Amino acid sequence: MKKIKIGLLGLGQIGSGVYRILTRKKSLLQKKSGVSFEIEKIAVKSPGKKRAVSVPSKLLTRDAMSVAKNGRADCVIELVGGVRPAKDFVLAALKSGKDVITANKALLAECGEEIFKIASRYGRRVFFEASVGGGIPVIKALREGLVANEIQSVLGIINGTSNYILTRMTHDYLEFGQALAQAQREGYAEPDPSLDIDGIDSAHKLAILASLAFEEPVRLRDIACEGIRAIDQNDISFANQFGYSIKLLAIAKKTAEGLEARVQPTLLSKDHILSKVDGAYNAILFRADEVGDMLLYGKGAGSKPTASAVVSDLVDMAQGRPDKKTNPWLTKRRLKIKSGSSIQSRYYLRFSVIDKPKVLARISGILGDHGVSISDVIQTERKVGNVVPLIMLTHHAGEGAVQDAVKTIDRLPVIKGKSHRIRIED
Ligand SMILES: NC(=O)c1ccc[n+]([C@@H]2O[C@H](COP(=O)([O-])OP(=O)(O)OC[C@H]3O[C@@H](n4cnc5c(N)ncnc54)[C@H](OP(=O)(O)O)[C@@H]3O)[C@@H](O)[C@H]2O)c1
Repeated sequence: MKKIKIGLLGLGQIGSGVYRILTRKKSLLQKKSGVSFEIEKIAVKSPGKKRAVSVPSKLLTRDAMSVAKNGRADCVIELVGGVRPAKDFVLAALKSGKDVITANKALLAECGEEIFKIASRYGRRVFFEASVGGGIPVIKALREGLVANEIQSVLGIINGTSNYILTRMTHDYLEFGQALAQAQREGYAEPDPSLDIDGIDSAHKLAILASLAFEEPVRLRDIACEGIRAIDQNDISFANQFGYSIKLLAIAKKTAEGLEARVQPTLLSKDHILSKVDGAYNAILFRADEVGDMLLYGKGAGSKPTASAVVSDLVDMAQGRPDKKTNPWLTKRRLKIKSGSSIQSRYYLRFSVIDKPKVLARISGILGDHGVSISDVIQTERKVGNVVPLIMLTHHAGEGAVQDAVKTIDRLPVIKGKSHRIRIED
């Protein structure tokens, strides 16, 4: 039976999951793949730390670089995370003639072009199924299942932490801070949740998905990114009254004017299939010319689902699956990126206004002057002189025009606080 020796970098959440599958499911994997996997060495930061799995201490080392370069291993699984020093380990492994498997979306989103260039120069392969969508085989679906298709758009809920928070705000009426604290208590959010709630993790994943979907490198700086910190219970409840839910969406669309790529809180009709994706679940909706709409749904993070994707890559690698002929990160870039201000969308606007006669007319007038027309209005709790929320939905309008109009409105003396603007995805 074919034997594959592995250098494992990292034994945290995902590394432990991979170790557990490779040790407990050894015979199942042998039966299904015809390959016997053996862990040669594991690099960690603190070898003495208590872990989710019990590992013979002789396997552990602090020296990740020596594991990356170890001549006895056939491949390296990088599960350290972050850009540095993970990038140094990955490049060293490739240059030492090893294939690499990684779950590291930040690394690929930021350094994909450099990593694949080195891999190609040294005739090595890089597998990264676990970098997007955790246990959902989204990379495989995109590269293999949809090979006959031209992809028109990708719409994804690809950050479980943000989706969990928005779901708790929607169903349990929690304020953002309360929902975040609950997510932290239940292990869905890190002590420092910025990467997740500011949309950066989704942008990393979207850069990978959009590069594969549109077959050219899509860089992080091409993606307009906005997180969910500013969403409050008012927005959730008014969106609900209009028949929408709020989701953090990662969106990439090919348009005549270029690629539109953004991560942003979005109002989605409750009838939209992605509206029904709740809790820490992920879903990715492709629109493609042959299959039409196709939805992938499942657990987008966590030790078990993500380790499942890593092991699937390991089997592909061991079975000698050749690298794809077209690699977006090795393709010359011709993509034009559509400017944010030219993106057309409907908008939800929430102003905090002093309730006075003619305020509504004044605000509508400013929007009208910028070519933004209103489709719906809600003004509640009418008490003259009080600060009340004024909610407006617009017809399609350019992002630039809406931004300018809101800036002008925010300068009116009757406006108290910064106005909220959320796009509506039809
Ligand atoms: N967690 C998820 O649900 C999830 C989902 C999809 C993808 N991913 C990706 O998977 C990767 C791993 O994530 P994770 O959640 O498993 O992270 P983690 O729990 O923080 O584990 C990181 C591991 O790397 C080790 N490490 C850190 N710096 C090191 C260094 N300089 N040398 C050697 N070892 C080092 C740590 O050692 P110690 O244990 O000794 O501290 C730890 O074992 C990341 O790229 C992440 O984005 C994670």
